[in-house]
Amino acid sequence: MMTAMSLPPGFLDELRSRTSLTQVVGRKVMWDQRKSNQGKGDMWAPCPFHHEKTASFHVDDRKGFYYCFGCHAKGDAIGFVQETENVGFMEAIRILADEAGMPMPERDPQAQQKADKRTQLAEVMEIAVQHYRLMLNTGAGGAARDYLDRRKLTQQTRDRFEIGFAPDGWQGLWDHLTGKGVEPELIIGAGLGKPSSKGGKPYDVFRNRIMFPIRDARGRCVAFGGRAMDPNDNAKYLNSPETELFDKGRNLYHHGPAREAAGKGQPLVVAEGYMDVIALAEAGFGASVAPLGTAVTDNQLQLLWRISDEPIIALDGDKAGIRAAMRVVDLALPLLEAGKSLRFAVMPEGQDPDDLIRAKGPSAVQKVLDQAVPMVSLLWRREIEGKVFDSPERKAALDKTLREKIKLIKDPSIRQHYGDAIKDLRWQLFRGQRNNSGGGGRTFKRDGGRWKTGPIVQEHTKASMLAGGQGAVEHRVREAVVLAVALVTPEVLDDFDYAIETMDCLSDDTARIRDVLMRNANSPDPRAAVEAALGHEAVENLLRQPYVAITPAVRNPGDMELARLTLTEELAKLKTERGLTAEIAEAEEDLQGVADEAVTWRLGQAAEARNNALLSRQEDNADYAVGDNGASIDKDERAALDALRDTIDFTRGGRPRRN
Ligand code: UTP
Ligand code: MN
Repeated sequence: MMTAMSLPPGFLDELRSRTSLTQVVGRKVMWDQRKSNQGKGDMWAPCPFHHEKTASFHVDDRKGFYYCFGCHAKGDAIGFVQETENVGFMEAIRILADEAGMPMPERDPQAQQKADKRTQLAEVMEIAVQHYRLMLNTGAGGAARDYLDRRKLTQQTRDRFEIGFAPDGWQGLWDHLTGKGVEPELIIGAGLGKPSSKGGKPYDVFRNRIMFPIRDARGRCVAFGGRAMDPNDNAKYLNSPETELFDKGRNLYHHGPAREAAGKGQPLVVAEGYMDVIALAEAGFGASVAPLGTAVTDNQLQLLWRISDEPIIALDGDKAGIRAAMRVVDLALPLLEAGKSLRFAVMPEGQDPDDLIRAKGPSAVQKVLDQAVPMVSLLWRREIEGKVFDSPERKAALDKTLREKIKLIKDPSIRQHYGDAIKDLRWQLFRGQRNNSGGGGRTFKRDGGRWKTGPIVQEHTKASMLAGGQGAVEHRVREAVVLAVALVTPEVLDDFDYAIETMDCLSDDTARIRDVLMRNANSPDPRAAVEAALGHEAVENLLRQPYVAITPAVRNPGDMELARLTLTEELAKLKTERGLTAEIAEAEEDLQGVADEAVTWRLGQAAEARNNALLSRQEDNADYAVGDNGASIDKDERAALDALRDTIDFTRGGRPRRN
């Protein structure tokens, strides 16, 4: 193939300036008329490279570049033609030059030769496809047809997947091809024949096998997978060797049709075997692919992500399948980008998708796909499955492994989210342990080949541990009390305005009241100002909240002394808790990178401060305990503290700190 080097200088610039990217792209997309501005060359459309309903694909016609904010596909007109027409660089240039009315320069003879060779190889492969298909229907194919009947492959399916048969014998295909005048060198080059080591006639690579043609994304047959008819054959499946046409890590079985089906909205499913893909496609899961006799490669992952943001890896429900899933997890971690991820659907124990479809029909597969779990939970489950975490050391070991995995993620934002998700899972795990067995460990087992479903990942953001947990309930009560007191006795604002202004409000409602109140702190009637801005209801609702309503300072408006006392106390407690939350958030952050004794110590200090604050409340403030739920709040707090101690244990044994 001709290289860019062989183009005359200025050719590409000329081509680019004569080409309108909007026009080129416009043939493949429907512009979003409302979002686009033709005059400015600012065009938007649903992305042609991934499935979406919104228009996140942007063309900057003046710069001649496109970029998709969803899948990050980007490039210029040449790249666009390459991607959408599935052609090489020079072929894309030829297409664009034709349109622009620019004559192509003469081809580089060497590159031309190479392209010709590949074309020739592909032609040989095509003859082989036809030959094998014919053989399936001749006398020699009787046993093969019986076998396919037993596997319930209809004639229609055989045609759709161009299934053929290589009869037993050493030179069936060889003789057929040479008889048609194909050069021996091409037969060997296509990976269909092998030279004899004894100096005899070269022989066929595939013998006594059911043949599955493997086509590349453009539909050229680049390889075969051959399934042994003889159960004693030492290779159940034999695949074509790597050739000038075939790079097994850069192709997928059923790539082209799957891409088309995925474009129409079907979920992209990655199975392990050819027979799985065929069964899935026949069962209505048209966007199914498989790697080619090897584990999924990073190149294949990239191919998958170009088809779909979230391919589902469907794995056999056996040990090998689960190991394969884990390999994919390890492979995918460093490659994760925003918007690109994986889900994992693990088949029932001992079954592959083909088995499941034959046994229970397409709906059973749909069910498994619906239950596909996100990658983070697979990562988590691998580490906890079958293990007991009954000591700080074991917990630390778990933490260390997970930390190392998370460190593999290159994208900082995704790394952060994984860290958060893992923390939530850990929190649930150790809390669950305590509830179940008073500190003893639970062993995590798979259940009938499928991982137990349970709470997996909760959408908690930062500082989730207390702010999103039990402490939040209390925090909300306190912030409501503070605002209520300030509303009914606004004179206190003179002394407390700064403290209230900087108070964290977990509840949006109280935050809104706080903001309006502070803006009107100097008005003659701040409460009236809040009611005017947010409605009488908003203030009523606040004052009616259970703990608020029974707070003496709220029940006695205008009692400055009581108001002062209450605010002093509540704000101090909020501050302690906030300090603790911040400490924990920070310490958790360290868990992602390095954690050590210093973190442990800091958590210990924070916990102690909180503990003291809680004790003082229990001792001196009976008002809160009056309500029915008073007791339950105390219980929650104890749980939160227990969890905190777990966290402290957890950080022990980390690597030394850098500073
Ligand atoms: P499996 O052993 O799971 O076979 O191999 P399968 O797909 O269920 O096939 P059937 O149902 O027994 O016919 C899965 C894939 O692994 C590769 C092939 O690509 C196969 O489709 N494989 C397997 C090999 O390349 N060589 C082998 O010897 C076995
Ligand atoms: Mn199978």
